[in-house]
Amino acid sequence: MAHREVVLSTRPAGIPGPEHFTVQEATSPPLQDGQVRVRVTHVSVDPAMRGWVNAAANYSRPVGLGEVMRSFSVGDVVESRHPGYAEGDVVMGMLGWQELAVVGADAIWRRVTETDLPRSLSVGVLGLTGLTAWAGVTSVLRPRPGSTVVVSSAAGAVGSVAGQLAASMGCRTVGIAGGPEKAARCVEEFGFDAGVDYRSSTFLADLAAATPDGVDHYFDNTSGPITDAVVARLNPFASMMVCGTAAYSSWDPWPQGPRMERVILTQRARIEGFLAFDHLDALPDAVAALADLIRSGDLVHREHTLTGIEAAPGSIAMLYSGANDGKLVIEL
Ligand SMILES: NC(=O)c1ccc[n+]([C@@H]2O[C@H](COP(=O)([O-])OP(=O)(O)OC[C@H]3O[C@@H](n4cnc5c(N)ncnc54)[C@H](OP(=O)(O)O)[C@@H]3O)[C@@H](O)[C@H]2O)c1
Repeated sequence: MAHREVVLSTRPAGIPGPEHFTVQEATSPPLQDGQVRVRVTHVSVDPAMRGWVNAAANYSRPVGLGEVMRSFSVGDVVESRHPGYAEGDVVMGMLGWQELAVVGADAIWRRVTETDLPRSLSVGVLGLTGLTAWAGVTSVLRPRPGSTVVVSSAAGAVGSVAGQLAASMGCRTVGIAGGPEKAARCVEEFGFDAGVDYRSSTFLADLAAATPDGVDHYFDNTSGPITDAVVARLNPFASMMVCGTAAYSSWDPWPQGPRMERVILTQRARIEGFLAFDHLDALPDAVAALADLIRSGDLVHREHTLTGIEAAPGSIAMLYSGANDGKLVIEL
């Protein structure tokens, strides 16, 4: 069966662009026992993909040159030689940037059963994005009611959900995003108590005005200068969760900046790295809870949809210029 796939053709040193990928015709192989063939309908574009194609040590094996680009995707099972899956099942998992995926059960994260909701959500707010916000806020950051929670990349896929979850726990929420439009969106669309534009020349003063009582919890999606500014406002016994490092275009050479150790010591603050893959057990609970919040209208989420597999090669770079307006998804 002929289909199209996107392979990694050269390895980027920093942010991957269209020149690092090739869209090519391929033949979907015959199924082996234990495998399913999935006609992919939506593929995800995630900031993590930059790490997956980089040769530098990461939490996962780098995608090999000539290999189909790794991605979360969702689609319909069109053929099965696995007893647990049948034709017509909708599945989400590591299916890659390709129109037809042949995979074993280990690549499938879950069967998508929320037929009343758009299936694209399964690679976003009902997938890695939602799990990240959910586990990050409820298991790692664990904000106290009445405390101030700051979120960076707050108008983005993870940040917008994290802010709403913290608000639902009775916290004052402050979202940091790039540009006046996204900062306003944090308040008007996602319900943050304040939105701060980190690109503004008045960023430091605006952050101070938005956090008059300091910062108790920080959901960090960016690192870099935004984080330097937030760390300077941490309260005693504050907690900070490092979820993403979007502000670094590369980590070789090692990014330089102000040292935060003195603040961490004097404020007795806690910093914790976070990886959603460590919280897969929470996926069913996160999906059920987030789907219910969407149905009841209590969780606002935003998708930015591109069309066609030829959009994939240039899509990761959009995340690093802030050109995405919500969870970036490609509909095939
Ligand atoms: N640790 C985990 O397991 C895990 C899982 C999922 C996601 N994440 C991380 O969570 C973060 C958000 O992911 P997402 O999927 O929700 O993407 P997203 O926030 O929807 O999109 C990425 C955003 O990053 C911001 N950005 C890019 N370059 C920046 C810079 N130099 N300084 C500040 N902000 C910059 C842009 O927002 P502006 O327009 O506001 O600049 C852009 O829209 C990413 O860092 C990602 O790696 C981590």
